Amino acid sequence: MSSSKQGHTEAAPAEWFDDDELPTSATASGTIGDVIAARLARRDLIKGALASSVLAVALPEGFMAAQPAKAQGAPQGAASAFSFKEVPAKVTGDHEVAEGYDADILIRWGDPVLPGAADFQPRQQSKASQAKQFGYNNDFLGYFPIDGSKRGLLAVNHEYTSTELLFSGLKSVAEARNAATKQLTKETSEVEMMAHGGSVIEVERGGDGKWKVVPNSRYARRITAETPMEITGPAAGHERMKTNADPSGKLVLGMLNNCAGGTTPWGTWVTCEENINYYFLGPLPEGHRESANWKRYGLPGRRYAWGNYFDRFKVEKEPNEVNRFGWIVEIDPFDPNSTPKKRTALGRFKHEGAAGIINPAGGQYVLYSGDDQIEDYCYRFVTKGKVDTANRAANRDLLDEGVLSVARFDADGTMRWLPLVFGQGPLTPANGFQSQADVLIETRRAADLLGATKLDRPEDVEANPVTGKIYVMLTKNATRKADKLDAANPRPANVHGHILELTPPGGDQAADVFKWEILVKCGDPSVAAVGATFNPMTSKDGWFSNPDNCAFDAMGRLWVTTDGNADDFNGRADGVWAVDTEGAARGTSKHFYRTPAGAEMCGPCFTPDMETFFVAVQHPGEDGKEWLAWGRDSTFDDPSTRWPDFKDGVPPRPSIVAITRKGGGKIGV
Ligand code: FEO
Ligand code: CA
Ligand code: CA
Ligand code: CA
Repeated sequence: MSSSKQGHTEAAPAEWFDDDELPTSATASGTIGDVIAARLARRDLIKGALASSVLAVALPEGFMAAQPAKAQGAPQGAASAFSFKEVPAKVTGDHEVAEGYDADILIRWGDPVLPGAADFQPRQQSKASQAKQFGYNNDFLGYFPIDGSKRGLLAVNHEYTSTELLFSGLKSVAEARNAATKQLTKETSEVEMMAHGGSVIEVERGGDGKWKVVPNSRYARRITAETPMEITGPAAGHERMKTNADPSGKLVLGMLNNCAGGTTPWGTWVTCEENINYYFLGPLPEGHRESANWKRYGLPGRRYAWGNYFDRFKVEKEPNEVNRFGWIVEIDPFDPNSTPKKRTALGRFKHEGAAGIINPAGGQYVLYSGDDQIEDYCYRFVTKGKVDTANRAANRDLLDEGVLSVARFDADGTMRWLPLVFGQGPLTPANGFQSQADVLIETRRAADLLGATKLDRPEDVEANPVTGKIYVMLTKNATRKADKLDAANPRPANVHGHILELTPPGGDQAADVFKWEILVKCGDPSVAAVGATFNPMTSKDGWFSNPDNCAFDAMGRLWVTTDGNADDFNGRADGVWAVDTEGAARGTSKHFYRTPAGAEMCGPCFTPDMETFFVAVQHPGEDGKEWLAWGRDSTFDDPSTRWPDFKDGVPPRPSIVAITRKGGGKIGV
């Protein structure tokens, strides 16, 4: 989800905020005022730096005292594990990949997925047409080989819709985010519901090296906000999961705001519900038993108008419907008739992703997941059973039983996984938990009680398949106060983010205690006040802010994608950066691919042979005000870019890009 400046509808503020930029935890102290203050300070800093060409301008309040920008890192001349010529960091209406590579559009919003899909007509999208076409705002990408790295399935999340870019006639972001806006009808809501969810497409690399979507594939599938899904695990069938439409508490329609995810070794797609609060309208009844639960999840978020037309998105009509979202969903991409399963054992929060690894020490599957909100937590799930690599069906319900834990980072460089188990510690009836189902439905409150570490907006958490080390992307936390710092969150008003590295003892991913350290603090290393710690070999194009998603290639090299790098007048678009983690080059970053203006970089995903790098360009043309050259809202009728079609009347289209090397070969080698 973009970290752009949208917010709630009633107040009609001059600036808008995504609520993931604000904390909901009870003891957090940040306010919208803090976000604004940090943002303004940063704008002044960047503008001042640009205007004067003097980088060390007056420090905005809240920034750390000057510290050496090259405090960490290697001697000049150490070799990076990556070999390519960097793209320039800047903002334009188009994308760009490193010299010697092709970046080809594979599929765009509105392209056909299912047989009989209508041609894309941006002014005449309907529920029926959108239901068969590729959805909006592609995020996670998972590649499932059929014929190695030449043919396979791509599973794609469609996280959300940028309403102001979907429909003609909306004059501003504020209007598009206001459920009372008259142009937001039942019909537009239905288009948006069909544009959410996911797609499974079959893709094939031709003799010319180019990737194509296989038309009319028997695997092709669209998942939408109406696809029937089964609820499994400890919360299935619980009273708090029952609704008028589903007295069983085990069947829900659709998945919402699916951000990142993972692929399991048994060939399933795990896809993660993130900002589920956006879809629900209020009012919030006083004294309702779910009030504290809702508050902690930012419910109701009131960003979409759907609740005006569908009662299940009205909290006063269906107070339990919200408990049926916020889960990790497991889907078999090879069976388009299979029922997706919401795996409640993995907890309910604003999941960013769910990347896993087989524990070399015990054979369990270990999934990591960040809760993408300011001052929320990093989680781990360890299955009770072991992965059976010889028998796919034996793993079918592996994710229904296991132990969910939350991370506490200590100043001595150790971190402890605190189990979220009913009856243990404070997770008892005295604190309102009657069962494991209660613990899972209110995972955030349970984690609060355990004393987990409030992180600077944790997003992707992934294990390096070669070294077994875990990497945690922390996007930012503008509200972090100087008196609320800790070792794992060491910068006040942290607008740039940082990356944590966790090391399991002896490679045991199920161990209770890990070691941790900071891989890199992000931001411009040439501005001492920023306190960035990239390796000095990092070029002026190589640094980034706001790490969000990441991927490892088959060599165990880390590729980081950003969300919000362009915000706050950094003067650079989001994109892909290759980051060294080992040896003397550790902490060196190189810029590989740049998105068009307004886009966030999602979905980084390699084929096993490392010859293709699929990336997802999400919400191109959003956040018009953040691009100085544009400086105003970007809408369907007045978009900041028309990428990738560049045709009059056609709005920007979120798309998947296939990156390959000219003449063939592995990426970045
Ligand atoms: Fe959907 Fe956390 O980005
Ligand atoms: Ca994001
Ligand atoms: Ca993301
Ligand atoms: Ca990832």
